[in-house]
Amino acid sequence: MKIAKNVTKLGTELVYDIFAKTKKLQAEGKKIIDLSLGQSAESPPGHVIEATIKALKDGNNGYTVPNGIIECREAVSRKIKSLYNANVSPERIFIMPGGKPTMHYAISFFGEPGAEIIYPDPGFPIYESMINYTGAKAVSYNLTNNNDFKIDANKILTLINEKTRLLILNNPHNPTGSFTEKTEIDKLAKGLLNFPNVAILSDEIYGRLIFEKKEFPTFFNYPDLYDRLIILDGWSKTYAM
Ligand SMILES: Cc1ncc(COP(=O)(O)O)c(C=O)c1O
Repeated sequence: MKIAKNVTKLGTELVYDIFAKTKKLQAEGKKIIDLSLGQSAESPPGHVIEATIKALKDGNNGYTVPNGIIECREAVSRKIKSLYNANVSPERIFIMPGGKPTMHYAISFFGEPGAEIIYPDPGFPIYESMINYTGAKAVSYNLTNNNDFKIDANKILTLINEKTRLLILNNPHNPTGSFTEKTEIDKLAKGLLNFPNVAILSDEIYGRLIFEKKEFPTFFNYPDLYDRLIILDGWSKTYAM
């Protein structure tokens, strides 16, 4: 059997090994506090569970249009408006089966040999793994230089060159839990206007888990970047879905 060469470039997500081990130990009766996955301790909202049951009973199974049913995309559009006062047409919203496939498609879309993609290090492991898979050069921006693991706009901007196709950002950040304030993200967004060929994947999956009433610096704040911006958000963290 011969497998595709690129498959060997895929990394692993070690956290699932730990998750499997904790499940095994729990099944053996051991008391475990499982900090492996970014799993919510809450249940999904009751009305979501009710609506899911109702949808299935009402016969809403089967294929849909690939970008998601229009009612769902319209609801997401309204939510973006209410959260961030941004106008995003349902036509520009894609309902995906999770954040990971979103990364997969976004990185596949821009990555190929000769291209460079900038990603946070440390960072969610799929970023680097997928960049390597595509054959692009994975260019890391090191978050450990600062003690606070925050995004440094100037540092990131200096990594961009004519080969850069995509910049991956993750704020609030997994795995460090760091949070970069709006002033720094404003600086980065302004600097990115000088690089119109660089697309941005802003992973905002933890955007609703912010404390001390701080303002979340979403990339929805920058309409000038919309034509090359992918915002990854989801319901796994916020709604335990
Ligand atoms: C930073 C980050 N982005 C995206 C995801 C993926 O989210 P999903 O569970 O929707 O695939 C995770 C999951 O842990 C994550 O930590």
